[in-house]
Amino acid sequence: MKIRLMSVEQWQTGNEKALLTIFAGEDNDKAVFDKEGLATAFFPAVAMDDFSGKKGEILEVYPPAGNTTLPPVKKAAFIGLGKSEERVDDGECRELFRCTGGDVAALCQKREVACLAVFVPVFEQICSHDFIEHFIEGIFLGLYRFEKYKTALVKEEAKEEYDSPEEILLLVEKESALLEAAVARGERAAKAAITARNMANEPGNMWTPSHFAAFAEKLGTNENVSCTVLGKDDLKKLAMGGILGVNQGSAEEPKLVIVDYIPQEYKETVLFVGKGLTFDSGGISLKPGAGMMDMKYDMCGGAAAISAMEAIIAEKPAVRVVCLVPSTDNMPGGRALKPGDVVTHYGGITAEIENTDAEGRLILADALAYGVEQYRPDAVIDLATLTGAVIIGLGHHYVGTLSNNDELCNAVMSAASRAGEKQWRLPLDALYAKQIESRVADIKNTGGRPAGTITAAEYLHKFVGETPWVHLDIAGTAWDYSKKSYVPKGPSGIGTRTLIEFIRAKEEGRK
Ligand code: BES
Ligand code: MN
Ligand code: ZN
Repeated sequence: MKIRLMSVEQWQTGNEKALLTIFAGEDNDKAVFDKEGLATAFFPAVAMDDFSGKKGEILEVYPPAGNTTLPPVKKAAFIGLGKSEERVDDGECRELFRCTGGDVAALCQKREVACLAVFVPVFEQICSHDFIEHFIEGIFLGLYRFEKYKTALVKEEAKEEYDSPEEILLLVEKESALLEAAVARGERAAKAAITARNMANEPGNMWTPSHFAAFAEKLGTNENVSCTVLGKDDLKKLAMGGILGVNQGSAEEPKLVIVDYIPQEYKETVLFVGKGLTFDSGGISLKPGAGMMDMKYDMCGGAAAISAMEAIIAEKPAVRVVCLVPSTDNMPGGRALKPGDVVTHYGGITAEIENTDAEGRLILADALAYGVEQYRPDAVIDLATLTGAVIIGLGHHYVGTLSNNDELCNAVMSAASRAGEKQWRLPLDALYAKQIESRVADIKNTGGRPAGTITAAEYLHKFVGETPWVHLDIAGTAWDYSKKSYVPKGPSGIGTRTLIEFIRAKEEGRK
C-alpha cells in the first residue's frame, strides 16, 4: 500500500479505478469540508436527501455521465463526520478520524478498492495533519487481518483474497513536510499495534518466550539499541523465583527479554514492563476448559510493550526507554508450583502461593524489582492481562489504571485518551495491601474476591516502592474489545499506541 500526498491540481489525470472519498458534516447544510469547493464541484448534485452527514454514514455515488471537466474516478463516497460540537474535544476528534479511517478500510474491503483517493477535509480549527495522521492510522488498523494459518488447500476456490488498496492518494491543498510527517506518524503507530496483534494472534505453540527473544534481538540490531535475553540459568543466578516458579511446570525455557534504547543524550529513563505469559492454563490451580484457549492472549502486555519499542526506536526520542518482558507459559506438571509453596522474588521478598493461576504478578514482580534496581527509572509503566476482576469492574471498554504517582498517572492517561484507548483509574491503599498479607511469607499472591484488580496491583506495588509507576490492567481490553471500525475481532493491540504517545508527548513537550 503506497501512500502519496498530492495537490488537487496535480491530480488532473484522475484514476479510472479510484474510489474518491469526500467528507461532510451533519450540520451547516451538510457542509463539505473543502475550502476550494473542489469536492463539491466533483458531484454538484449529490443526492443530499439520502445523506445526513451523521458520524460514520456513507453514501456511494457514481460520477455524472459526460463529465469531462473533472478528473475521472470510478465512484465517490460521501462520508459523514457528524455534528461540529462532536469535534471539539481533542481526544474525541482524533478518535473520530481513526474510526473514519476504519470505516473507509471496511468500504475498501467491501468494494475491493484498488486505488483510494481522499479529499483531505479542511476544518476551521482542526489541522489537516491531525486528520491525516489518525485517518491513516485507522485505515491500517482497520484493514488488518490475520490469515497466516489459512492455506489454499481446503478453500472452495483458490480465489485471491483482497488485501488492501495498492495506493492511497491524499489530495490536499498543498503538500508539505508536516503532512508527510503526519502520514509517517500514523503509519508507524498503526504498524506497531499491528505487530502486537500479530504476536497475540500466534497460537501458544507458535509464540513462545523464545519468540519474544528473537523479536527483541532483531530490535537490538538498530542504532542506539541493545538487547539482552536472560535465560533459565541467568534467572537462577539472579534468583528470580517468581519467573522460575511459574515456569516449573513448563517444557519451554523462560526468558526475561530486555530491549534498551539509549539515545546519545537523555535526561530521563522510562521503563516498560509487559506480561509475556504465552499460555496461561492456570497451572495446578487449573482453569476451567471453556474459553481456556483465549489464554494464548495472556502475553498481550508484553506484546504491547515490545511493539511500542519498534516505533519508539524509529522516532529516536531523547528519552531512554527500557523494555522488559518476563516470559513463560503457566502449565501444570509434576514439577509445577503448587498452592502453599513459597517463592523468593528478585531482591528477597518471599511470597506464599495461594493460587497458581495468579501467576502474572509473580513474573512481573521479578521484572519490576530488577528493572527499578538496574535502571533507576524516572517512570515505570507496566501492562498486563492481570485479572478477570477488571472485566467485572470495567468490562471491555476501559483499561484499569493504578498508580502511586498522580503526575505520571495523568500523563499516561492523557496519552491514552489521545490514542483513543480509554482508561479508568482505580485506587491503591494500604487497606487493600493488607488483603495480601500472608501468615507464612512476606505476602501471598491472592487477596480474596473483593477488589481483585487492586490487590493484584498492590502486589506489584511492593516491588516498585516509591518509584513513580503506573500499572495498566488490560485483561478486559486486550481482546474482546469495544466494537470499533479500526479494531477487527481478535487482539486489539491495546497499550501499544498509548506508550508511543506517552513518549511522543515527552519529546514534544506536551503535558
Ligand atoms: N491471565 C489471567 C487474567 C485474565 C482472566 C485475563 C480473564 C483475561 C481474561 C490471570 O493470570 C489470572 O488467572 N488471574 C486470576 C487471579 C486470581 C486467581 C487471584 C483471576 O483473575 O481469576
Ligand atoms: Mn492466571
Ligand atoms: Zn495470566
